[in-house]
Amino acid sequence: MASGTKKQEKADENGRERIVQATTPAPGPENSGDDAGMTAGEQAQEERARQLAENPADPVVAEERMARDLRPRHFRDYVGQKAVVDSISIAVLAARKRGDTLDHALFHGPPGLGKTTIAHIIARELDSTLVHTSGPALERPADVVGLLSNLKTGDVLFIDEIHRLSHAVEEYLYSAMEDFRIDFMTGSGAFAKSINLPLQPFTLIGSTTRAGMLSAPLRERFGLSYHLDFYSTEELTQIVTRSAGILDVDIDSEGAFEIARRSRGTPRISNRLLRRVRDYAEVRHTGAVDKSVASEALGIEGVDSLGLDRLDRLYLTTLSKNYQGGPAGIQALAATINEDQQTLEDVVEPFLLKIGFIVRTPQGRRTTPEGFEHLGLQPGLDGPAGQGTLL
Ligand SMILES: Nc1ncnc2c1ncn2[C@@H]1O[C@H](COP(=O)(O)OP(=O)(O)OP(=O)(O)O)[C@@H](O)[C@H]1O
Ligand SMILES: [Mg+2]
Repeated sequence: MASGTKKQEKADENGRERIVQATTPAPGPENSGDDAGMTAGEQAQEERARQLAENPADPVVAEERMARDLRPRHFRDYVGQKAVVDSISIAVLAARKRGDTLDHALFHGPPGLGKTTIAHIIARELDSTLVHTSGPALERPADVVGLLSNLKTGDVLFIDEIHRLSHAVEEYLYSAMEDFRIDFMTGSGAFAKSINLPLQPFTLIGSTTRAGMLSAPLRERFGLSYHLDFYSTEELTQIVTRSAGILDVDIDSEGAFEIARRSRGTPRISNRLLRRVRDYAEVRHTGAVDKSVASEALGIEGVDSLGLDRLDRLYLTTLSKNYQGGPAGIQALAATINEDQQTLEDVVEPFLLKIGFIVRTPQGRRTTPEGFEHLGLQPGLDGPAGQGTLL
């Protein structure tokens, strides 16, 4: 997960979005009337806009600007996930109409499907400030107390990777979410004192790739909870076409479809592959992208006909050959592949499950006949000593 790039999301080229990085001290009453009259969010925007303007050729800055430009800013630009968008946009409109804060919302699903994007859209549609932090960044209870007490009425607190909050921090959130107050102890022994701190009503938006790892009390405090699923090829074709328009890439409909088809159902991958295909088209061809240019470029990138990348194929091959199609435990697979178990569970497996190449059984993971077929292997015959050939 690109935690190193989170700061990038502070700025907005037209200065309308108000996003505060939680590490930026939020303005307290004592410094809200500073000389320039700017909030912490506005100062952060200024700073980032300055950096972007000063380093237009810096590849990190260029990549960052591109990712930011491609992020849809309104519900109407957010392709797919219709049921989720319909439901959340009604909740947002209703909250606005009543002048109320929106219920706390949880978004879960595999990486790159648009959880962060939708949180930003919600804050924008609510005309609120989005305060951005993540589970691992809120290490100590003091971090969360400081953060919560600085929130203003209607602010959206976005906690990415919310399943990685420590238990102690999570406990502070319970009363904060439910009653907009926090109770904490100061001092110790005879000097210990319990303090009850009222908070301004705010909306918590949590994002996680692991809804199952959230504790029940935390999960139950979200009035709204949505699962984002993989996108269809048609939806991804729309996303590729939209992104190509923003990036000024000359692409025809078949070229867009080819990239979409090989994007593992994931908008982030579509946008990444589009950039790689664009590079290839500019260097090896005239810059225009059609089906064959896209196909050649994606072949070089190691993306196969269904969009499986090197790690997907390594996982599937290991399960199918070394473990003869399973059942194999995830720990054993992770050790054999020498890859992080969580990456396999969060990134690789959801898509292989979705396309029916593997199944999860109580005994472990198994390759399905379709999975074997994709690798050109035969179930039962292609064990460690089998004769099957890999793609
Ligand atoms: N529905 C969508 N329509 C158009 N583009 C989208 C959509 N969803 C996501 N994207 C694009 O995909 C990129 C990745 O989305 P986003 O960062 O919101 O994913 P995420 O679910 O938060 O991933 P992670 O779990 O890794 O944090 C965005 O920058 C955006 O450009
Ligand atoms: Mg995200």
